[in-house]
Amino acid sequence: MIPITLEVNGRPIEARVEPRQHLADFLREEMLLTATHLGCEHGVCGACTVLIDGAPARSCIAFPAMLDGARITTVEGLADDAVAGELREAFMDEHGLQCGFCTPGMLVMARDIVLRRPQADDDVIRHELAGNLCRCTGYVGIIRAIRKVAAGREAAVVTRGTVLTPPSYASPLSLPLSPAGRTPVDPPASAIALPAELSPDATPDDEPLHNPVELGESFEVPAPRATVWALFQSPEQVIACLPGARLTAPSDGRSLAAEMVVKLGPMQAAFGGTGRIVADPASWSGVIDGRGVDSRSATQLRARLAYRLDEAGEAPREATRVTVEVAYVMQGPLAQMSRGAIARDLAARLTQSFAANLAAHLKGEAPVAANASLDAGALAWSVVKGWLARLFGRG
Ligand code: FES
Ligand code: FES
Repeated sequence: MIPITLEVNGRPIEARVEPRQHLADFLREEMLLTATHLGCEHGVCGACTVLIDGAPARSCIAFPAMLDGARITTVEGLADDAVAGELREAFMDEHGLQCGFCTPGMLVMARDIVLRRPQADDDVIRHELAGNLCRCTGYVGIIRAIRKVAAGREAAVVTRGTVLTPPSYASPLSLPLSPAGRTPVDPPASAIALPAELSPDATPDDEPLHNPVELGESFEVPAPRATVWALFQSPEQVIACLPGARLTAPSDGRSLAAEMVVKLGPMQAAFGGTGRIVADPASWSGVIDGRGVDSRSATQLRARLAYRLDEAGEAPREATRVTVEVAYVMQGPLAQMSRGAIARDLAARLTQSFAANLAAHLKGEAPVAANASLDAGALAWSVVKGWLARLFGRG
């Protein structure tokens, strides 16, 4: 049993939990908060959606043992919340529920949509809600209800001349999830000076990334900076170091077309898309940004990767410190998977695989896992194992 502290619906909680007990069971069985429903129990249906540190997350694939210090809000905890109140009324008025089984998860997700995307139209709401399934197929009423509340709040904003505050997502990176000695951090905005062609928030079409998931990683590779720089200017070689990624067309060095396969439990997503490459030799830094879509789930991904190379080590053992910052936003059925602490740790592990492959490549060795797809299920288990090993002092 593992001792943890949590804040559940505003109440501080101390508990001892089994490592394998998921958050939904903990909430229902230990806290008797039974409004959180369980449908599929493997992260597909969204019935179990709660807020973890203010962000919607599936409680059936989150583990209290990994959430020490987190703030959990269930639909019961939104009883006095103004937006949730408006949504409850709108769901009743617009026939947004039939049996009600999906409703707690729908309400938690709907509140997030209203706060984060108050101008959402039906298409946007459908995309955002695509990870919440309603067995009664009452989607038309649900979407009407969300649009009604969003439109009402947007109109109030225009009338008052004020701006809605989107939910603030506390960084789960402060949670003890990362492998020992390699704590990913939210990079300070100024950690990498971006080339002048790119504003910090821009993507290829210069739309800002709203509420991105951000993380940073810094690692050393045993090669001179000029050698590493040359490798970073070759999209073929960079892509070869990313597990599950491949170029889908030859690159001209300024743009790329690529595909990346990710396994999420029973689902497999293959994000295909295009990006642009900007490099600034004067500052030994560069940016790759782009957008893609998984054709099966229609989940859209927009991402930006910024890097900087610094000299490290002393002659004759020259080395290079590589600082990488990643920001991404997902929309669609897999979007909810992208915001949890496990997703962040998986992204950090992807960066670590990239670092290991890069080092192998520079030594002339075969990449460690370049051809395998990124298996989030296997990685999630390695996250849990790594965390337990650290907890018991064997990491
Ligand atoms: Fe958690 Fe279905 S019960 S997503
Ligand atoms: Fe019955 Fe959604 S209202 S599952």
